[in-house]
Amino acid sequence: MGESFIDQYIINQSYWLEDGVPDAEKLTDNHETDILIAGAGIAGITAGLLLIKEGFKVTIADANRVFQGTTGYTTAKVTAQHGMVYDQFISQHGKEKAKLYYDANTEAMNWMKQQISEHEIDCDFSVQEAGIYTIDQPEQLEKEWKAYQTLGIAGEFTDEMPYDIGAAAVLKMPNQFQFHPVKYLKALLDEYIKHGGEIYEKTRLLDADEHSNGVEAKTEDGYVIKAKKLIAATHFPFVDFKGLYFSRLKPERSYTSAAIVDGSFAEGMYISAENPTKSIRMTPYKDGKKLLIIGGEGHKTGQNDIEGSRYQRLESFAKAKFGVTDFKYRWSSQDLYTVSGIPYAGLVTGHHDHIYIATGFRKWGMTGGTAAAHIIKDLITHKHNRFQELFNPADHDVSSSIGTFVSENANVGAELVKGKLKSPGKTEEDILSGEGGIIKDHSGKTGAYRDEEGNLHKVDITCTHMGCECAWNQDERSWDCPCHGSRFSFDGAVLEGPAVTPLKKK
Ligand SMILES: Cc1cc2nc3c(=O)[nH]c(=O)nc-3n(C[C@H](O)[C@H](O)[C@H](O)COP(=O)(O)OP(=O)(O)OC[C@H]3O[C@@H](n4cnc5c(N)ncnc54)[C@H](O)[C@@H]3O)c2cc1C
Ligand code: FES
Repeated sequence: MGESFIDQYIINQSYWLEDGVPDAEKLTDNHETDILIAGAGIAGITAGLLLIKEGFKVTIADANRVFQGTTGYTTAKVTAQHGMVYDQFISQHGKEKAKLYYDANTEAMNWMKQQISEHEIDCDFSVQEAGIYTIDQPEQLEKEWKAYQTLGIAGEFTDEMPYDIGAAAVLKMPNQFQFHPVKYLKALLDEYIKHGGEIYEKTRLLDADEHSNGVEAKTEDGYVIKAKKLIAATHFPFVDFKGLYFSRLKPERSYTSAAIVDGSFAEGMYISAENPTKSIRMTPYKDGKKLLIIGGEGHKTGQNDIEGSRYQRLESFAKAKFGVTDFKYRWSSQDLYTVSGIPYAGLVTGHHDHIYIATGFRKWGMTGGTAAAHIIKDLITHKHNRFQELFNPADHDVSSSIGTFVSENANVGAELVKGKLKSPGKTEEDILSGEGGIIKDHSGKTGAYRDEEGNLHKVDITCTHMGCECAWNQDERSWDCPCHGSRFSFDGAVLEGPAVTPLKKK
């Protein structure tokens, strides 16, 4: 297993990636294919498999390594219970659309289950009940339960949980499942390659032009890929394609800690109704033990307003509620939220015929990414999919979510101005070994990180995407942009887009 460029900057270890990811070649020539898919996460790999089985020549290109996007840093609950969404969706989008959302995710879950069973995929699969618990919002949760009843969603409203964490009420959805996402996706990737699918890693797409018969995309290394169709499964599309995605998507980052616990520890996949959320699940571990996975502490990327470590907060919660101490893994990642709360899967704008997008899964992309792959496959093969209108990025009705749309764009504007006005309080001497921050120097404002050897790495913190000022993330030792979530290493390398150009070194 080769090292990726990003490996050198990752200081925390995802359990799912502990055994590495499959190697792929880097693209080193111009290329021609029927379907080009950018992004080798769950959305891209699933779409690749579905389309290769339809007889197309398919090529997947990833900027980094396969599964090393959000998919390798997820919690991997597979469920249609996506927090408290159904009551909100009924009032925002109406009963019919709320039910379609549930059906799309349930069908995706069932398809995944079928793959695991048909291909005997060894991926730590187990059927589980999903549950939302609340400590002090039982009325809110009861409203969500009423929404389940309105939509005919199977559930149970109770105060019982397998562990005693002081829940006042719990809303359960039975017959959901959990798995090891990388083991599952390796099997899908093997199947894709067996059918003739091609995959390239360390191959970043920088640009794409649509013409009447297809698309021409360009890679970072200057190669041209000609395709009949392009699917951008890259979170933000790597080019905006005049879809105004920068004003319609919000990145949110979350953290995960995992501790080794006894094999008898209770099962179940739970999430708190309260914010910042706490998400709880188990997975089988070595020697009959289990791994307790606690996630949450989400915040808009680059806008972390608490003192101290988000990981430590999760670990304090786990210690207090479950008495666990043997923490072994930490990882974090981010996902995008659309203004309407419904993901985007379909043609990138109403003016395009050959470029598709799959994104905006709101931290529920195991089913969302799978559903998106099916919708896009059906659009390309001209089969009607009953979910295509709901997920259509071009049709997304911003008017039903106008408040979110306005406040999100006001937030980006405010961050742009705030960053320019804020004056740094620190000097070089204040930055200790292993720490970073914004310092005042002869050029004004500079981002600085002191490594374990005492060397100071200085960068211009102006984000190369659209000019907002990045903030230091001590948990990941990265510079994170508060506007659209681009992330840069301590020495300025791009870790996550939409930015494609490194921060300037100083
Ligand atoms: C902390 C956390 C916990 C979560 N837990 C759950 C859960 O329990 N259940 C659930 O259903 N969902 C969960 N999610 C959400 C889920 O993990 C994501 O929605 C899903 O993994 C997104 O998959 P993806 O394929 O869209 O993106 P990714 O897996 O991020 O893949 C995108 C790929 O695109 C590549 N890329 C980017 N730019 C380019 C470019 N220009 N050219 C080529 N390639 C490019 C990247 O390298 C990356 O590999 C969670 C998310 C987070 C953040
Ligand atoms: S300004 Fe857009 S990500 Fe930084």
